[in-house]
Amino acid sequence: MKNISSVCVKKAPHDTQPVLIKAMNTELKVSPAMHPAWEEERERLHRQMLSSVSHDLKTPLASIIGSLEIYQRMKATLDPEKRNMLMETALQEAYRLDVFVTNILDMARLDEGRMVPQRTHIQLKHLIDDCIGKMASRLQGGSVSIQPSGDIDVWVDAGLISRAVQHLLDNAVKYCPPPVEIAIRYGRENEMAFIAVSDNGLGIPPHREDEIFNKYTRLAKTDYQVAGTGLGLSICRAIARLHDGNITVANRPQGGAEFTLTFQG
Ligand SMILES: Nc1ncnc2c1ncn2[C@@H]1O[C@H](COP(=O)(O)OP(=O)(O)OP(=O)(O)O)[C@@H](O)[C@H]1O
Ligand SMILES: [Mg+2]
Repeated sequence: MKNISSVCVKKAPHDTQPVLIKAMNTELKVSPAMHPAWEEERERLHRQMLSSVSHDLKTPLASIIGSLEIYQRMKATLDPEKRNMLMETALQEAYRLDVFVTNILDMARLDEGRMVPQRTHIQLKHLIDDCIGKMASRLQGGSVSIQPSGDIDVWVDAGLISRAVQHLLDNAVKYCPPPVEIAIRYGRENEMAFIAVSDNGLGIPPHREDEIFNKYTRLAKTDYQVAGTGLGLSICRAIARLHDGNITVANRPQGGAEFTLTFQG
């Protein structure tokens, strides 16, 4: 089987390439001694993943290069508004690339068991407020409500649990027509702490509730109009499992989906 480096995305930034290649090989668990019966399926997955990864890397990179080239060539003649627009496009696309690379590396670290939770005591309300603060600028007229059930002190890796909550909030904003209405519940049930994030979007199509937690899975075709790699929910699941918990989803009777992250701590 070909090592991924021999067909790697040419446009990835040089310093991130070796790390990304290693991460992708880890994802596919490439090893020299592999049962021949698995080879074909691995090869298919390999191609599928490379195609998805190359597309996701190349699209923002092409935008960044395009915007910066125009800026460089025409900066003397462009008015300040257009110059700003070009820089803003480059910056937004660079953020997108950053999220994508971070997701791939996070997933690989989680898969390899290299992420060991660094637990500290934290109030769930503080953790959730912090996550909301980070995405407030993306709400665009939407709202977030929190339903607290008192102070809940947990013993968790706050960075990892925050990351999971941020993925859920990101999805609520991405997959709901604006203005989004997000509701967050948190508390303890059956000795497990939980954080549930619900939205007023279209919900998850019937019988596809499990599938969305698999890597690189995106549902409706229209999803592709929204940037994403299909890794957010699998990262959430890996983080929940690291805390001996889980993540599930259910559609709400009034519409929209509710994702519930449970964890020990
Ligand atoms: N709140 C939601 N409402 C409706 N569909 C959702 C919601 N959250 C996730 N999905 C569906 O589940 C799929 C997988 O979500 P996931 O977060 O894993 O990946 P993504 O958002 O496509 O990409 P990213 O890696 O950037 O998070 C989405 O593409 C979408 O089809
Ligand atoms: Mg997502």
